[in-house]
Amino acid sequence: MSERKTRYAAAIPDRQSHSGLVLFHVGMRINRLRSTKQWGSVLLAMSRMLRELEEHPALGMLGSESYRSGRRFLGVQYWRDLESLHAWSRSGDHSHFPAWRTFNRAIKASDAVGVFHETFVIGPDGSGTLYVDMPPTGMARAVGSAPATRSSAGPIDVAHQPEH
Ligand code: HEM
Repeated sequence: MSERKTRYAAAIPDRQSHSGLVLFHVGMRINRLRSTKQWGSVLLAMSRMLRELEEHPALGMLGSESYRSGRRFLGVQYWRDLESLHAWSRSGDHSHFPAWRTFNRAIKASDAVGVFHETFVIGPDGSGTLYVDMPPTGMARAVGSAPATRSSAGPIDVAHQPEH
């Protein structure tokens, strides 16, 4: 195996007219294993949404990765901007809006399954990435890669820089 390490960073786009790149976490937790109907319907809704977003990149999702740990499921998504994310989530023509309504009506009455969303707007000044010997991953897979530099790994904390 080659001893040369590959190092790269994500090519985070500059914030222009829109909000900027969005990192979105969507997660669920099976609280009651036996309530298969409840958590099964959320899992199914989630996979329907992901399929729709992957098949129609114009909707704004640039990339997504899914993880599972025990009863918890996590989707890590990168969106072009907040406008696209909110437009899709509220559109009656797409898969999220009906699932949201069903969740509120039927599933919310029980605690069999939990759902969470976290939304982060990412700008070039407040974020960083570094990938070493990794196949295209995470943000770099979604937006493309660039050579790693000293500053691309993360925002510099001026107050805690090591002294030379
Ligand atoms: C691809 C995955 C998903 C994305 C990108 C997504 C995105 C969003 C966004 C952006 C909102 C905020 C909408 C707004 O305030 O205008 C939202 C709200 C909501 N989503 Fe999702 N969602 C996803 C999956 C799910 C799933 C699987 C469920 C459950 C079936 C769900 C249930 C809800 C509910 C109940 C709300 C409203 C929360 C509240 O304000 O009370 N979402 N989602």
